Amino acid sequence: MKLSELLPHLIYDFKSEADLIRAIDEISLKFTKEREKIGDYLKDPRLVAAYTAFYLLTNIPKLEEVLKWMPNEWVDELKECDFVDLGAGPGTFSLAWKNLGGKGTYYQVEKSAMMREQGLKLWKGFHSTELFQSGNYTWNNERPKVVLFGHSANEMGSRVAIDYLEKIRPEHVLFIEPGTKSFFSEMLTIREYLLGQKYEVLFPCPNEGKCPLSGKDDWCHQFIYVEQDSEIERISQMARKDRRLLPLTVHAYSRSYKGQNPQERLVRVFPETKFSFEWEVCHQNQIERYQIMKRDLSKSEAKEIGAVLAGAALETELLKSLESYKRVKILKLK
Ligand SMILES: C[S@@+](CC[C@H](N)C(=O)[O-])C[C@H]1O[C@@H](n2cnc3c(N)ncnc32)[C@H](O)[C@@H]1O
Repeated sequence: MKLSELLPHLIYDFKSEADLIRAIDEISLKFTKEREKIGDYLKDPRLVAAYTAFYLLTNIPKLEEVLKWMPNEWVDELKECDFVDLGAGPGTFSLAWKNLGGKGTYYQVEKSAMMREQGLKLWKGFHSTELFQSGNYTWNNERPKVVLFGHSANEMGSRVAIDYLEKIRPEHVLFIEPGTKSFFSEMLTIREYLLGQKYEVLFPCPNEGKCPLSGKDDWCHQFIYVEQDSEIERISQMARKDRRLLPLTVHAYSRSYKGQNPQERLVRVFPETKFSFEWEVCHQNQIERYQIMKRDLSKSEAKEIGAVLAGAALETELLKSLESYKRVKILKLK
């Protein structure tokens, strides 16, 4: 979706590009430095429209990238379920899901009336199918549901997120949240709840065991690289916001899907040295430092390995175990 296609469906008419960029700056400040005032933007049509123009458009491409980490058969199963966009905002992930072929009924759970108004206007502008929004339905369990929290569990907190999960009792749950340390501890609380409800974790953990970073001054998050449309790329540059290389916290759970999780996942990429790539990897619930020697790689292999981001699944062969790290050979990357 392009910015020019979206503008006619906004609830506020920006006088100029400079006017839009000023509003983006204001929201960004609330997300990063003025967290205590984070709710303010939800009451102002100008800021809701700016969120939609900038964050909805730059968040939509995340979903396709995130789904590449998931098992294909699971994604096919999800597309048959009803879709619950939780903390939907203007309906970012409902629109993204619909574009990717999600066939079920669409629900948007959103506390801000202004965001709901923006969400409805957009949905009607682009789709003719019915949309249910907070307040105009009651939950039933006739059909399996997938709940997606998109940058919302961090705003509502783990207790409220868990209350929603208790009410909806979905078959599958996906989180696409900010890659921050403060959200990670909230995510661990939600993980514990879901595992207690007999969900299996599909991403990022190798299994349901204890997270090795729980209680540590460190956190597990991922990075994706997304190509943005040229119109939005121009706005990003003018607002001095990088929306291509994005840190995020992704978690995926299911009650019914049984898969074989990868046993090794890249948690952190350290600066490469002249001779090696240096990674931190979660290997069967242990954090380990891996070293991959450049001399063992062809030019194209080195290029591929140099571009890998945290979140990738790996298969490796152990070459040498040293005191503080393991020297490995990469057999497979996903
Ligand atoms: C940063 S926006 C994310 C919007 C959209 N999901 C996206 O990813 O672009 C977070 C949204 O969560 C909503 N939210 C926060 N707490 C909520 C709650 N308790 N119930 C429903 N929505 C909530 C906010 O109103 C806001 O629209």
